[in-house]
This record gives sequence, C-alpha cells and structure tokens, in this order.
Amino acid sequence: MPQNKVLIVDFGSQVTQLIARRVREAGVYSEVLPAWATAEEIKGRDPGAIILSGGPSSVTDENAPALNPVILEMGVPVLGICYGLQLLSHALGGELARSEDREYGPAELEIVGDSPLFEGLPKNSRAWMSHGDKVKKQPACFNVLASTKNLAVAAVSDESKKIYGVQFHPEVHHTEIGEGLIKNFLKIAGLKSDWNMASFVERSMETIRRQVGDGKVICALSGGVDSTVVAVLLSKAIGENLHCIFVDHGLLRQDEVAEVRDKIAAHYKLNLTVIDASDLFLSRLKDVEDPEKKRKIIGHTFIEVFETEAAKLGKVDFLAQGTVYPDVIESISPLGPSAVIKSHHNVGGLPERMNMALVEPLRELFKDEVRAVGAELGLPHDFIWRQPFPGPGLAIRVIGPVDKDKLDVLRKADVIVQEELRSSGLYEKIWQGFAVLLPLKTVGVMGDGRTYENVVALRAVTSVDAMTADWARLPYDFLETISRRIINEVAGVNRVVYDISSKPPSTIEWE
Ligand code: XMP
Repeated sequence: MPQNKVLIVDFGSQVTQLIARRVREAGVYSEVLPAWATAEEIKGRDPGAIILSGGPSSVTDENAPALNPVILEMGVPVLGICYGLQLLSHALGGELARSEDREYGPAELEIVGDSPLFEGLPKNSRAWMSHGDKVKKQPACFNVLASTKNLAVAAVSDESKKIYGVQFHPEVHHTEIGEGLIKNFLKIAGLKSDWNMASFVERSMETIRRQVGDGKVICALSGGVDSTVVAVLLSKAIGENLHCIFVDHGLLRQDEVAEVRDKIAAHYKLNLTVIDASDLFLSRLKDVEDPEKKRKIIGHTFIEVFETEAAKLGKVDFLAQGTVYPDVIESISPLGPSAVIKSHHNVGGLPERMNMALVEPLRELFKDEVRAVGAELGLPHDFIWRQPFPGPGLAIRVIGPVDKDKLDVLRKADVIVQEELRSSGLYEKIWQGFAVLLPLKTVGVMGDGRTYENVVALRAVTSVDAMTADWARLPYDFLETISRRIINEVAGVNRVVYDISSKPPSTIEWE
C-alpha cells in the first residue's frame, strides 16, 4: 500500500508550491521533488498519487526537463498540469505544437467528456490558462474531457490507467473548478483526508520523542513565530530536556524579551535562559557603517554567545531549528521560483559548527500551517500573526553606525507604528510595517523655536513571500496620525517620510 500522500514533481512553474498547498488544504499531505529527482528518490517517497507541475519550457526543447519513466510505472494515479500534460502526451505518443493563439489568463472551459475527474463540477466555468504549447494530436489512449474556444484538448484522461492531464491551472484561485478538480483527483486515488494540524501535533510529538529519547535539546528562541512554535512543541514532547536560549542583542523591539519571557515561557513552563549581551553587540557595532559588516558582526557574535551558553549546559545532543518547508524546497530545486534563494538566516552556520543533530519539526510545513500549529498549541493570536522581524533586528533599521541612543529613538517610533497598525486593523493586511531611523537631520519648527532633528522613514509593504513586494497604499489619514504621533511623542524626530519604493528594485529593509 503506498502512503497517504501526493508527490508533486516540480518542472519549474511559478506556482508549484500552490499545488502542494491546495492538496494539503484538501486534507492530504503533499511533498515536492524537483524534476531531476532519480527513480529511487521518487519511488522512495512511496506516494499514493503524483502531480506533474507546469513549467516554462517546451517539451521538445533540447534541455527541457523530462518525465522520469518510473512515474508511469508505479501504478498510481497521475495528474499532469500544463507542461505536465504535455509531457504525458509526448511520452504516450501524442504530438505537440506551438499555439498560434497563445492563451494567458482566463478562458471559458467546457466539459465535453465524462470522467470522475469532473464529477459534480459545472459544465461551463472559467479556468486560468498560461501556455505557449498545446497538444495537437493526443495519444490514442487519451479521451478528451474538456475544451476551450482556442484549445480543443484542454483536459484528457486514460481512465483505465488513471492518468489525467489538464492544460489549465487548477491550483490557482481564478480557476473556478480548481478545488473541486483536485479533490476529485484525490478521491480517484483513494486518498484519505487526514492531514490537519491537530493530527500533525500528535504525530510530531511522537516523532520528536522517538528521535530525541532522553537526550538534551537546545533551541535558540528569537521571539519569532517559527522558533516559538518549535520551542512550545518540543517542550510539550520532552519537557525539561529542552533548554531555550534567548540572546538579547540589544537590537530588539521594546518589551520584546519581557513578552517572550512573561507571556510564552512562563505560560508553557519553558526552560528559558535570557542572555543580556547587548553591551557586547553594541561595542562590536560601534562606528561600523557598512550594512553587510553589521550583519556579519551580529551573526558571528550571536553564534559566539550562544555557544558559550550552550557549553554551560554540559552535554547537549540536539539543536532544534524552525526550518520551514519553503526553506527546504528552495534548497533542492534549481527551477522556477525556487532558483531565487533568500540568503537571510538568523542562526546561519550554527548547526555546522555545533556538531549536534538537528531537530526540525516544522520542516514539512508552510508558513500558514506553522501558524495553525501555533493556534493548535494555544499560542495567542497576536503572537502567531506577528509580522516577520529580521534576525539582525533594529541594527538594519538604524541606517549607518548604531548606538544605544539611536536605537532608543527608533524603538519609540516603532512602538507607535506597531500600535497604530494594530488598532487600525491594517497590521494583518500588510506583510510588514516599520520605522527606519535615517542618519540625517533636517530643520523644523516646533512651538516658537527652530528644531534640527532626525528623520524617520516609514516603510510598509504588501507581499506574499518577501521575494517581491509593493509599497502599501496606506490611507493618508492613517499616515498623518503616525507622523503626528511620532513627531509629538518621540524626542529627537521632527520629520516623517513615507517610502514608496517597490521590491525590486529596492528591498524591504533599508540595509
Ligand atoms: P529584504 O530586505 O531582503 O527582506 O527585501 C526580505 C525579508 O527578509 C527579512 N530579512 C531578514 N530576516 N534575517 C532574517 O531573519 C535577516 O538578516 C534579514 N534581512 C531581511 C525582511 O524583514 C523581509 O521580511
């Protein structure tokens, strides 16, 4: 019996991860492998069904990623999407051609054949297309199931072998029957809907206990969602054998340490040591202007402090990390969005240096699944929905050399931005919103006097994954409230400006 999961083979589509998401939303666990995975790797995953993603290539291009023949030999249902369909058609003896009428965007789909893949779905609907090639002559084994105006072959099946192909993208929201189609495919494969966060927590605790036994585990707590969920999950599984270390580098937001210590650690009875290393970090950062140098100093100092503390605990066997699934996929796929790799790591280099086995209970989860696990574990809503905060903290939001006075000014401005975002209900609508302190003084007038003070820049962006971002169109009145409050309440600031750059060509953070 194959396992109750779907394997998605990534041919470089921008939306491969969405396929994985949709399958999981339908209650079935899914994993992604790159197109170049070997037959052993594919068989080793032992999936109950396989989905072939779309991709930017043409099947007949010289270097186009190919279909591993093992996929058709495993006897499990296969669904090819777009490029995936073309690969199947090509492999089974069909003929492909460049479309004269390339279709990008919505198309009117009509179901013309009878198949369990379309069971219960409307005959006519809108579907999202994005393709340059099409199936000119389908293989003899295929029945045509659906068409559009420009495309005679928009969906096919070989019911006897349970092989399906669609030219449109069921994984994107704009395809009206997408969700239903994916559910039907899972039903055809006989897969059970058993993936939910409560069962994940149960299974994960068992796996952790099995891996760790009576060993000691340490965990670097950063106050972020991922590391906190890891810590709480581990503490539930192994209790006292988990030791959390929170390195306060003096670059945190106001009350950050207290919040983690009083709200999270106390509530969950975490074994937590907070190290106040702010003097050390600030002395090393003194007069350093270059952003990359600042990041490196913070990274190295973090590792040094963490190692010194860990050594005090005696023998520790495991290091727990909040690695999430997008990190894992990004590191193995050379294709598609996965080719652009983020280089930000809070504890970069730590595992290699510390010679400990890793415990990574969130390795298979997407970010919103991590949040759902957090909710399952009872973490407060506001905590789970925190916006991302960079490992180097406020050091990369004080432009140029960092010192305690500047950090204090920025912290006060930041509190106002966070308060206003939350009370206006905008906090969860944007990806990030924060203040940046510029190394720049300008003239102002307050009361009867002339001022010569700092400038604070306000940055707020919308994004889905931080790879690209747009500046948030915040209401003018809201911007005005923030500007007024910062200038009135934060000594040392007399001007607030709003950053209207997108990423690319700018980045989200200023350094
Ligand atoms: P950029 O500035 O590159 O930021 O557009 C993209 C996202 O990553 C966050 N960021 C970091 N996160 N360590 C982190 O953990 C870092 O060194 C780091 N630098 C940037 C940033 O806040 C944004 O969400």
